[in-house]
Amino acid sequence: MKERSARNKTLTLTADERERLSASLTSLTGSALTADVTDRIFCQDLMSALPLLPQGFADLLIIDPPYNLSIQFGDLKTRKSSDEAYLEYVLSWLPQTLRLLKPTGSVYICCDWQSSPVIYSALKQCGIHVRNRITWQREKGRGSKSNWKNSMEDIWYGTVDAKQFYFDVEAVKQKRRVIAPYHTENGQPKDWEETDEGKFRLTCPSNFWDDISIPYWSMPENTDHPTQKPEKLLAKLILASCPEGGIVADPFIGSGSTAVTALKLNRHYLGIELNPEYVLWALKRLEKAKSDKHIQGYEDHVFWERNSGK
Ligand SMILES: C[S@@+](CC[C@H](N)C(=O)[O-])C[C@H]1O[C@@H](n2cnc3c(N)ncnc32)[C@H](O)[C@@H]1O
Repeated sequence: MKERSARNKTLTLTADERERLSASLTSLTGSALTADVTDRIFCQDLMSALPLLPQGFADLLIIDPPYNLSIQFGDLKTRKSSDEAYLEYVLSWLPQTLRLLKPTGSVYICCDWQSSPVIYSALKQCGIHVRNRITWQREKGRGSKSNWKNSMEDIWYGTVDAKQFYFDVEAVKQKRRVIAPYHTENGQPKDWEETDEGKFRLTCPSNFWDDISIPYWSMPENTDHPTQKPEKLLAKLILASCPEGGIVADPFIGSGSTAVTALKLNRHYLGIELNPEYVLWALKRLEKAKSDKHIQGYEDHVFWERNSGK
């Protein structure tokens, strides 16, 4: 057990919680129907789960696979390989994973700048209509004396159908502080509002996201997962591309961020994760989310700027 300061909110498990939640660890052993996999996280290798999952049930796929890096997820060590080998790896699970989507479904795949061309190419090869590439400036990154610090990630966005898909831009508007508060001819604020906290404008979100921090120790959503995604980032993807009551599937769900965010936003989820420790963290987060639906940075149905105190 790591020593942590009293202000550190990183999620941990007591011995009792570990024992109780371990009883809920399950894996798929036979063909499943949509009802069998809805609001469940299965602890197993994705490759063993894929042939057993139903097809055409998910509104949205959020895929955050191991990147083409040397990194350790518990007992699983990944090794950086060539682009060709990484493409082969992605194509070993992507076509079957995409079959989980409805004909109107959408998919997002996370990657770093180096694997970004591979992910784009894999999506195209699988017949997905690639609609955008979001760049997330995640701030934190390791400095280098001989290169630019890497502090961004890409998220490719595509749909199964070119025309029939769900996208709700109103649900993902961003609240930005107004720098030049113009007035109309009769002296009224133009496109902005005066509040007790200052002058703000609701803006359409672009494909450059600079308003989201990676989870850190003072955030209650934080776990010890090495590559945990922020709930605020997932909330944008889910609100934009999955209707309320719809199903979001995540085949590499890690500490459960996609499931937790889906639950908080009244969507259903399905997750797969190899590492039982991560699944236990996910299960505890899901329990907490049933009574606490707050998502840091998303309040009053709008996304607030980074460090706005929301
Ligand atoms: C980039 S992380 C996802 C992190 C996640 N988005 C979160 O917020 O915690 C990738 C995850 O995939 C899991 N994983 C890797 N290979 C897998 C496989 N073949 N089947 C299931 N899970 C796998 C790893 O254990 C790791 O937790």
